[in-house]
Amino acid sequence: MKDGKLKVALAGLGFGKAFVPIWCKHPDVYEVDIIEPDEKRIAEFLNYWSKYITINKCWKSFGETLEDKTIDAVHIVTPIPLHAKQAVAVLNAGKHCASTVPMATSLEDIQAIVDAQRKSGKNYMMMETAVYTYPFLKIKQDVKDGLFGGIQLLRGCHYQDMENWPPYWKGLPPMWYGTHAISTSLALTGCRACEVHCYGSGVMREDLQTLYHNPYPAETAIFRLENHPAALEVTRTLFQTARSYCEGLSVYGEKRTIDWSYGDGPDCYELLDTSNPKAFGYPTYKEPFKAPDTGWMLPKEIAPFTRSGKYDDLNPSTTFEVSGGHHGSHPHLVHEFARSIIENRRPAIDAYTAADWTAAGICAHESAMRNGELVKIPDFRK
Ligand SMILES: NC(=O)c1ccc[n+]([C@@H]2O[C@H](COP(=O)([O-])OP(=O)(O)OC[C@H]3O[C@@H](n4cnc5c(N)ncnc54)[C@H](O)[C@@H]3O)[C@@H](O)[C@H]2O)c1
Repeated sequence: MKDGKLKVALAGLGFGKAFVPIWCKHPDVYEVDIIEPDEKRIAEFLNYWSKYITINKCWKSFGETLEDKTIDAVHIVTPIPLHAKQAVAVLNAGKHCASTVPMATSLEDIQAIVDAQRKSGKNYMMMETAVYTYPFLKIKQDVKDGLFGGIQLLRGCHYQDMENWPPYWKGLPPMWYGTHAISTSLALTGCRACEVHCYGSGVMREDLQTLYHNPYPAETAIFRLENHPAALEVTRTLFQTARSYCEGLSVYGEKRTIDWSYGDGPDCYELLDTSNPKAFGYPTYKEPFKAPDTGWMLPKEIAPFTRSGKYDDLNPSTTFEVSGGHHGSHPHLVHEFARSIIENRRPAIDAYTAADWTAAGICAHESAMRNGELVKIPDFRK
């Protein structure tokens, strides 16, 4: 750290590109490095972005970067099979670690990260976009304010066709990348899922079964939560399913229900008149659920990154397009991780929380491979 500010390195210039300008503009960060072995990707990135932001150094080797003692934290946005080993290496090098989802794809690798985090005392945060979207932050506040009454049932879904994405996606078990659909309900209730039944669904093409030996293009699970009466249903599709992209959350409450399983955003159902004790069911009113921009929650330097479009009114010459990606979640993730280090506290999605959200999906796939048998989900705090 220098003058109370951080030096951060970001690894992986695919999806990772969206986070680099946010890191560069964050008021608690003094320098940003990039780690990317693909020279073409570095050149393309710098060709566009060097007009607007300053990158201190571009590294090609992840291992060499970890030897640089001036780097405080590494943000991993690399291919899925690398996440766990890289996270352990970052923590063992005495640096704070942020990792894109999923944390890992095996329970053993989750345990290795939890152990490395404990031993190093450094912060680990899983950068789960689904729990910082505009709709989620509004739903969370409304639940806290009691607008739903008791929560009776939770549902998550994530439909996305990964045909022809980078090779490590080929045939991936859907629930191994289940965190977008699972995390929201667990974050709302503040509970972990303790057991699961899951069925694999459909027929996977043979060429998609070679890497992970997973026969299912879709998986659908029911989780029991620890210390909460609601059950959680989750459905994931990854291949050969004609459904447009959607990451959804539905919360069925006594007084209000949010149903978000469409691409366009959630609907809200409010319970109306309950005064007639003889009514055959009480009426509800339905309207689209509106969630406001959340930039006001963030420092002014990164607040505009919650939205799409141009920004930087004061410096029009350095104006650039920002994505507002994943419903405004990216700057919240950067801010939470940075502040957790500065304030010397656990981040909101620490290693245990990340373990809860990720292990739930890994155990769901295990249940699917055993024809829906009950699988207990380990508690990594023990
Ligand atoms: N909403 C979300 O949270 C969300 C969305 C998209 C992707 N992701 C996650 O982000 C990750 C990256 O996705 P992507 O679409 O950019 O994948 P990608 O495969 O297109 O890009 C990964 C990048 O990492 C680079 N890379 C490979 N090995 C590296 C190493 N050792 N060190 C540094 N960089 C290395 C590659 O050259 C490539 O540029 C995936 O693991 C995915 O799970 C999360």
